[in-house]
Amino acid sequence: MGEVVYPVPTGWDQAALVDAQAYEAMYQRSIEAPEAFWNDAAHRLDWIRPFTRVKETSFHEPDFGIAWFADGTLNLTANALDRHLERNGDRVAILWEPDDPSEPHREITYNELHADVCRFANLLKARGIGRGDRVTIYLPMVPEAAVAMLACARIGAIHSIVFAGFSPDALAGRIIDCDSRIVVTADEGLRGGKRVPLKANVDDALRQCPGVETVVVLRRTGALVGAVDGRDIDWHEGVALQSSDCDIEEMNAEDPLFILYTSGSTGKPKGVLHTTGGYAVWASITHQYVFDYHPGQIYWCAADIGWVTGHSYVVYGPLINGATTVMFEGVPNFPDPSRFWQVVDKFGVEIFYGAPTALRALMREGDDWVRRTNRKSLRLLGSVGEPINPEAWEWYYRVVGEERCPIVDTWWQTETGGIMITPLPGATDLKPGSASRPFFGVKPALVDNDGKEVMGAGEGCLVMTDSWPGQMRTVWGDHDRFFQTYFSTFEGMYFTGDGCRRDADGYYWITGRIDDVINVSGHRMGTAEIESALVAHSKVAESAVVGMPHDIKGQGIYAFVTTNVEVTPDEALRKELIQWVRQEIGPIATPDVIQFAPALPKTRSGKIMRRILRKIGENDVTNLGDTSTLADPSVVDNLLANRRQLT
Ligand code: WT7
Repeated sequence: MGEVVYPVPTGWDQAALVDAQAYEAMYQRSIEAPEAFWNDAAHRLDWIRPFTRVKETSFHEPDFGIAWFADGTLNLTANALDRHLERNGDRVAILWEPDDPSEPHREITYNELHADVCRFANLLKARGIGRGDRVTIYLPMVPEAAVAMLACARIGAIHSIVFAGFSPDALAGRIIDCDSRIVVTADEGLRGGKRVPLKANVDDALRQCPGVETVVVLRRTGALVGAVDGRDIDWHEGVALQSSDCDIEEMNAEDPLFILYTSGSTGKPKGVLHTTGGYAVWASITHQYVFDYHPGQIYWCAADIGWVTGHSYVVYGPLINGATTVMFEGVPNFPDPSRFWQVVDKFGVEIFYGAPTALRALMREGDDWVRRTNRKSLRLLGSVGEPINPEAWEWYYRVVGEERCPIVDTWWQTETGGIMITPLPGATDLKPGSASRPFFGVKPALVDNDGKEVMGAGEGCLVMTDSWPGQMRTVWGDHDRFFQTYFSTFEGMYFTGDGCRRDADGYYWITGRIDDVINVSGHRMGTAEIESALVAHSKVAESAVVGMPHDIKGQGIYAFVTTNVEVTPDEALRKELIQWVRQEIGPIATPDVIQFAPALPKTRSGKIMRRILRKIGENDVTNLGDTSTLADPSVVDNLLANRRQLT
């Protein structure tokens, strides 16, 4: 079958910032002369003290280290806010759409956002928070989340956002790991008409966190929540006393900006640390070129600020570029499956950036929900977080974008800070399902299991052979884990954890994770985390978790559970365990299947043979491979006999 290719639409090649020729030239320069390229590119920011050093990076021991623009100083909110005020202070910075469409939306100008950020920054200072302190933010999708982030950046504090869907335990773990003395939250969150008890979760979490001195509580729903004297303060009462001026803190380019916890294949979630200068360059330059952003356009990234996509493409990238960024509190199918496209029409959104899992869910509801909306304002569509299957791609292209809008399928990771492999809308012919070509300065390579580079067309593990400005700098509190996780598998290379194919045109096709990480609805889950939640239950002896194909979520969670001998597994226990995992981690970790197994397949040395479990999860059991090294091969027969039949 011939491959489908959608050429750059007529008009786009001329109107866009970069056409095919310009992409080739700029890409070549970025690879051959990275110092010169990034020296120029970094001038998109306002620096307080200009940098003289550009790139000081090594992926090799003994001089392993990553630094960009290291002797420059700047402040990120000065770049995201202050510098826009003189000419564009009245431009809308944030267009906020609430969960319930009958509630009024909010328009916050750059002037207003600046004042709000200064007031909140002053409140933080009044509570003793300053340079280098960690601030945990556990907020729903409200403008105050952006205010809190930018206020931290203004005073040099490091924010750590915890997704508001995480459980009290998960929240506590993250507060403890980075030793925050302050938590910013809301009384409740609202999503799809449902209330999320955020303040109650914080109260619960803080029983494990004696170091927290301050809790700032935003009133969102007005629900009655408890207040601890001396510790809890009401957001609005707190900021009312504060001045709307706050000096910026002069930060070094390599000073930390934020920590964001993400799951890996082993252990507890890692605190991915991003620093100031390189991250700001990366978030803003990718936002500008990938979305072909022109000032004045209405841009909407539908991600939650609890994930890196929200950090880089709801808040930092767009605001540094002076954009109008839409922030949506709700979900795609509430009150009905037209919701996204109604918001597009309401605000005249030109650029929409969303996740395949949402598209697949909407696709299932039928085209009519889309067709009854206008969508003429849309000119560009984006996809992020997981592979987009060609069927969903075609639907997005034909039904949502009416064959008028290029789709940018953007591959990147929490660790990369921003987009790495992506089409540029005026430059790249599109192939559905391929993230296509590397962004400027990105040097991808494919290696086989022995670390030998695969040249030309072929398949292998996706690595990066050189640094880019947006790269994470360390794992909070564990620099050795940073090196071990990303740079020890293949000597001198950053290992992404993804498998990938490169075709004859040099297009990259991500095939998915090759480690014990699964991607559920675009959310990254370590199987080890779910396993440790399960074994924490008193009736569970052992557990192994693998991914399984899922029509909407991309991957679902398939858990094998061995109970303690005196326990008889039944339907009630299955339900109890599902509830348990939701409580331990959060609803995003809800197992789709729990299969009780008297034993797990182990080698004689006691190692679980995950390969077999993965095959069962994938319902691909005709060839389980070599099982001769199993201590007890009959275990497999039981697993097969009781496996969940996937339709
Ligand atoms: C993992 C990173 C991208 C920021 C949000 C998720 C998968 C991401 C794509 C894509 C295929 C993708 C990878 C990656 N992934 N984007 N366009 N095509 N796979 O960030 O939670 O750090 O997850 O998401 O497997 O490693 P994350």
